[in-house]
This record gives sequence, structure tokens and C-alpha cells, in this order.
Amino acid sequence: MTQTVDAIRTRYREHRRDIDLLLSDLLGRSTAWLLAHGDQLVDEVPIDAAMQRRIAGEPLQYIRGRCEFYGREFLVDDRVLIPRPETELLVEAVLRLAPRNARIVDVGAGSGCIAITLQLERDDLEVVAIDRSLGALAVTRRNREALGARLRLAASDVLTSLRGNFDVVVSNPPYIPARDIDGLEVQVREHEPRMALTPGASGTEIIEQLFAQAGRATLAMEIGFGQEAAVRAIAEAHRFRVGEVIPDLAGIARVVVSSPAW
Ligand SMILES: C[S@@+](CC[C@H](N)C(=O)[O-])C[C@H]1O[C@@H](n2cnc3c(N)ncnc32)[C@H](O)[C@@H]1O
Repeated sequence: MTQTVDAIRTRYREHRRDIDLLLSDLLGRSTAWLLAHGDQLVDEVPIDAAMQRRIAGEPLQYIRGRCEFYGREFLVDDRVLIPRPETELLVEAVLRLAPRNARIVDVGAGSGCIAITLQLERDDLEVVAIDRSLGALAVTRRNREALGARLRLAASDVLTSLRGNFDVVVSNPPYIPARDIDGLEVQVREHEPRMALTPGASGTEIIEQLFAQAGRATLAMEIGFGQEAAVRAIAEAHRFRVGEVIPDLAGIARVVVSSPAW
């Protein structure tokens, strides 16, 4: 069944951005092109199927199978968290602080957006990406191949299965307290992997393990809303000194960089 671009855009006018991106994917044209070619006929079956998923709350990035991060396209599906713009702040911090030829481990790689971006932006870095989820690691691997990054992958519960020393441990860990999950938007709560969202009751369980296992490495991590004080206390308990706290665009403390004080 075919319909014109204009008719489909009218049918889904309450979802204008989504429908334009899906139409432009299907036609292999820009969204600007759609505006000038409203009488173009398209197969409405895949568009209706995609929009039904979207209206039911599935994130557009999973439906399209991709997401942009730091100027590159990453493949995503429901085995990985959808990369967030604020995580680019973490990448920028590590690009700034990592010494030449630094050995870096990304704990909880998910799509691989952090590890792959670091390696592609800085060819001198030696990067290992780890995750506890084998499904997530399969997506990291696909992105590594698609983007041509040089990266070692390993399955590990935080750093417990890893040998060797690292100069920098980077992580965007799961940090949402379990009790807050019910209050999240449906597209996060029902579709993104639970293991990527929450580590347990306090939200700081993985953060604590990162400090406990980082050894002499500099630790750069993303943290959740209102967690700065708790993270400072954990850092102090593990004799780490907090060097930098970087706010996101909303002014929320989002990235914490700390180093061993011993
Ligand atoms: C918030 S997501 C971050 C994904 C990706 N790095 C990003 O920034 O988009 C957290 C990731 O940590 C992984 N994870 C959760 N618990 C873990 C653990 N104990 N050890 C290693 N990885 C873990 C999850 O599978 C998930 O991929």
C-alpha cells in the first residue's frame, strides 16, 4: 500500500520529528527533501509498523537501530543504553587528562560509545572495553567493526576479571537507585536494559566498586542527579582526591574525576 509523503506526515502530525526521520530513513533522503516532495509515493506498511512501536513507547533510536554520539553513528538495540549527550562531557574530560599512550579501561561499555570514541579521537590510547552483559559486548563489537576502532573487549564484573594496570578507569556506570526506576519515562523504564540503569538500592554500588578496584588509576565517571556528595564521601573513604567536577548544561554535577591521594 502506498501513500504520499504529505498524507503520512499529516497522519502522524503529532509525532512530526519521528515521522520525518523514519520517512527520510525509508527514502534515503534528507528531512528537508521531504518538505519539497510531499507528493512522493511511499510504502506505508513499514512506516505504520515503526510508528506503532514508537507510539507504544519504544525509543526512536532502537527503532532506527542507531544513535549519534560525538559526531559518529553507533548501532544500538535493546541490549544497550542509548548514548546520552551528557556522556560526551566524560569523553572530553578523558581526552584532556589522559597522558600520551595511556592505558584506559571503560567499565560498562554498552554500545562502546565512550571506548570507541576515545580510541578514534586519540590513536595513541590503548583502550579496553568491558561489560558484564554479553549482549552489550556483542553490540560493542559490532560498533568496533563498523567504526574501525582498535579496542580489546572483555566480559567482567567491574574490574574483577581484568589483569594489568591502567592509567585511567572511565565509566558511565548504572547509577539510578532502584526505587527511582518506576518514576522514569516509559521509554527508559520499559525499554532500556535494567542492568544499564540501576546497580541496586543506593545507586552507588558500582561507583563504590570502581573506587575499590581502580588501584592507582585516575578515575573519571559519570554520576547521577544529586550524587556528588555521596561520591565525594566514597572517594574519601577510598583515599581518592576529587580533582574536577564537571556540570552538564543544566548545571547538574555530571562528571567526577578523582585520583588516588596515597
Ligand atoms: C549506563 S550504561 C553505560 C553504557 C555506555 N558506556 C554509555 O555511556 O552509553 C552501564 C553499562 O554498565 C554495564 N554494567 C552493569 N553492571 C556492571 C558490572 N557489574 N560490571 C560491568 N559492567 C556492568 C551495563 O551492562 C551497561 O552496559
